[in-house]
Amino acid sequence: MESENTPSEFKFHDGRRYHNVENAVYPMPNDENEQDRLHFQHFLMRYLMQNNFSAPINHILTTPGAKILDVGCGAGSWSFDMATTYPNIEIYGLDISPLQLTNTKPKKFTFIKANVLEGIPFEDSTFDFIYQRFLSYAYTKDEWSSAINELVRVLKPGGFLELMEPSPSLFDLGPIAKRIWDAQSSLVIQRGVDLEVYQRLEEYLQNQGLFRKY
Ligand SMILES: C[S@@+](CC[C@H](N)C(=O)[O-])C[C@H]1O[C@@H](n2cnc3c(N)ncnc32)[C@H](O)[C@@H]1O
Repeated sequence: MESENTPSEFKFHDGRRYHNVENAVYPMPNDENEQDRLHFQHFLMRYLMQNNFSAPINHILTTPGAKILDVGCGAGSWSFDMATTYPNIEIYGLDISPLQLTNTKPKKFTFIKANVLEGIPFEDSTFDFIYQRFLSYAYTKDEWSSAINELVRVLKPGGFLELMEPSPSLFDLGPIAKRIWDAQSSLVIQRGVDLEVYQRLEEYLQNQGLFRKY
């Protein structure tokens, strides 16, 4: 059904479709091309990491009814993959952009349209495992602490939080790729994004005083 996708839900620019959430700095499109890119990127990451997660969560994955949250789930690639591999767990994918409804949605997957910075619409201590990958363009430097506070609020005591962000350093770029990369970087920096956030994740978690590193 298309009814969720009212025109004001999106902005369009140069033939690409974007979210229309006020105050959300995330600059990438959310159209079909972008969803294809995210799927491709997911399988590339799974191949590189040889798994879909690094946290020691096998006990969670074998507990029927365990709840997992995929923050900024994008096209749902990670969620769908996990929900298919571990059919007894409940996976919730949250994003500011609507998920393209598909016939392939696994049974125990639920999508929630929400902005992390306005509060994750779940009670405290709901999730056994929270996974957040590639959200470095989603929050400004000043917003990261509140975003982490919100993830921690909905994580169960004893639960696991996995954050995965890339280093912005690319090597051996050709001149055109370098121009595109520099333009993209300067755009997100202007929006207040912290391209080096991958170096600060540990500090953000340490500041919570609640985490043990694995
Ligand atoms: C680069 S994509 C990564 C998608 C997915 N995590 C993956 O690895 O395939 C970032 C996603 O974060 C979402 N996002 C950006 N800002 C957000 C916010 N404030 N709250 C929730 N989702 C957000 C975007 O809409 C986008 O789908």
